[in-house]
Amino acid sequence: MTFNRRKFIKLGGLTGAGLVGTSLVSPYAAEGLSPEQPDNGSALKTHKQKFNMCGYAAPKIETVRIGFIGLGRGMAHVSATSLLEGVDIKGLCDLMPDKISRAKKKTEASGFTPDIYTGNAEAWKKMCERDDIDLIYISTPWDMHASMAVYAMTHGKHVAIEVPAAQTIEECWQLVETSERTRKHCMMVENTCYDFFELLTLNMARQGFFGEIVHGEGAYIHSLMDLVLNKNVWDMWRLKAFIGPSGNLYPTHGLGPICQVMDINRGDKMDFLVSSSGRDFQMNERVKELAAKDEVYKKYVDKPFNGNMNTSTIRTSKGRTILLQYDITSPNVYSRIHKINGTRAAALKYPEPARISIGHGWVSPEEFKQLEEKYTPPIVKKMGALSKEIGGHGGMDFLMNWRLIDCLRNGLPLDQDCYDAASWSSIVPLSKKSVAKGSSPVEIPDFTGGSWKTNRPVDISLEKGGSTKVIRQG
Ligand SMILES: NC(=O)c1ccc[n+]([C@@H]2O[C@H](COP(=O)([O-])OP(=O)(O)OC[C@H]3O[C@@H](n4cnc5c(N)ncnc54)[C@H](O)[C@@H]3O)[C@@H](O)[C@H]2O)c1
Repeated sequence: MTFNRRKFIKLGGLTGAGLVGTSLVSPYAAEGLSPEQPDNGSALKTHKQKFNMCGYAAPKIETVRIGFIGLGRGMAHVSATSLLEGVDIKGLCDLMPDKISRAKKKTEASGFTPDIYTGNAEAWKKMCERDDIDLIYISTPWDMHASMAVYAMTHGKHVAIEVPAAQTIEECWQLVETSERTRKHCMMVENTCYDFFELLTLNMARQGFFGEIVHGEGAYIHSLMDLVLNKNVWDMWRLKAFIGPSGNLYPTHGLGPICQVMDINRGDKMDFLVSSSGRDFQMNERVKELAAKDEVYKKYVDKPFNGNMNTSTIRTSKGRTILLQYDITSPNVYSRIHKINGTRAAALKYPEPARISIGHGWVSPEEFKQLEEKYTPPIVKKMGALSKEIGGHGGMDFLMNWRLIDCLRNGLPLDQDCYDAASWSSIVPLSKKSVAKGSSPVEIPDFTGGSWKTNRPVDISLEKGGSTKVIRQG
C-alpha cells in the first residue's frame, strides 16, 4: 500500500473529527439510509499495472467503424460522428423502437447503412462480437456501463462510455484491468472537459498563469427532478438509481476538468475524500404527490432517496484540495462551479459570466478578452467556431467527438484513459461509503499502479493530428 496511513489518520483527524478506525453507527440510519459499505471492491487493492494505457497510441484507423449502444444521449454522439470524414456507422442498438427509428433515419440520411440490434437486453453483445467494428459508444443506464465496456474491449473494440463509467470500485478495476490487458482505449466521454472556459483555463494552467494550482471546485448542480421522476424514462432507471445510500451520484462533470488542470493521474493523484450528504427534503414529497394520482409511483413512496445536496472534499498527493458538490433536486441555477485557485491567480465559471482574478479583484471585460485571445488553446482556435455552430451542449459535444475520432484516425493517445474513467467515477461509491460512515475519510485507489508519478499530462497542443474534416451538414 503506497498510502501513508499515519498521514491519513492525522489528516482524518482534521476533517473527520478523528473518526478513522472507530466503529460508527451511521447518523443516517434513523432516516432509513443504509450504513452498509456500498461498494463491493477493495479500495486498497494493490494494482500491478500490466501495461500503461496513459499516453498509449493505438494503431491508426483510417475509417473508424462505430457501433452505438443506447440512443437517448447516444444520439448526440451519432449526430456528431455522422458529420465526419473517416467514419462508418455500422450498428445501432437500443430497446425502444422510437429511438431506433430516429437513429436509423438520421444515419441513413447521411448515407450509412447500419444494422439494427434490438428486441432483447442482450442484443448489444452481437454487435460487440462483430469483427468489422472498431469503436463502441455506450450510452445506457449507469449500472450497465462497465459490463458492456468490458465485453466490448474483450471483443477487440475501443470504448467510449458515458458518464459515470462505473458504479462500484470493483467495476473501476475491471475497466482498468481490461483496458490494460486488451490494449483497447477505454475513454469516458466527459464532455465538460471540452467546454470552452474549461479548455481556456486548462491552457492557462499549462502556461503557468495561475502559478501553482492550490485548490479546485466543481459541481453538478442542475434542477432535474422532473427528469428523474419521468415515468417514460426506460425502466424508470433514473428514479431507481436515486434510491439507496446517499452520495455524489454524478461527480465527473465537475471533477473531470479540475483533474485535468491538476494533472491527476499524470503528476498528481487523488489520495482520499470526505463526503457529507444532507437528507432528502423534496423527492419523497414529490413521489407521494405523484402516487396519489398515478399507481406507477406507489412503490417508490418512502424509499431512501439520495439527499438534496452532497458535498465532498478531496485531497491530492501534492497537497491540493478539491471541493465537489452534487444537487439535482433543489431549484438552483445550473452550476458546475469550475473554480481554480492558484498561487498567482484564480478563475470561476459559475454563476456565469465566467471570470478571472489576479489578486483581489476580477479582471475587467477588456482584460478578460485579452487573456482569452492569448490563452485560447489550438483545438479551440481550429474547431471552436464550427463546434459552436454545430452545437450539442453549446458545442462541447461535437468538439469532444471530433477529437476522439481524430485521435483514433491519427493513432494518437486519447485525452481521457481508463485511469481517468476509473478514478473520476470512483467518487460515486467512495462518497457513498464516506457518507455512510459519518463522513469518515475514505482512500481513493491508485488506479495507475504508481505510474501517475511519471505519466505525461494530456497533450492539448494539437501539434499532431487535427486532420479530420467535417464533410456533412448537421
Ligand atoms: N454527458 C452528458 O452531457 C450526458 C447527458 C445526458 C445523459 N448522459 C449519460 O448518458 C447515459 C444515458 O442517459 P440517457 O439520458 O440517454 O438515458 P435514456 O434513458 O434516455 O437512454 C438510455 C437508453 O438505453 C437503452 N437501453 C437500456 N438497456 C439497454 C440494453 N440492454 N441494450 C440496449 N439499449 C438499452 C434504453 O432503451 C434507453 O433508450 C447516462 O450515463 C447518462 O448519465 C450524459
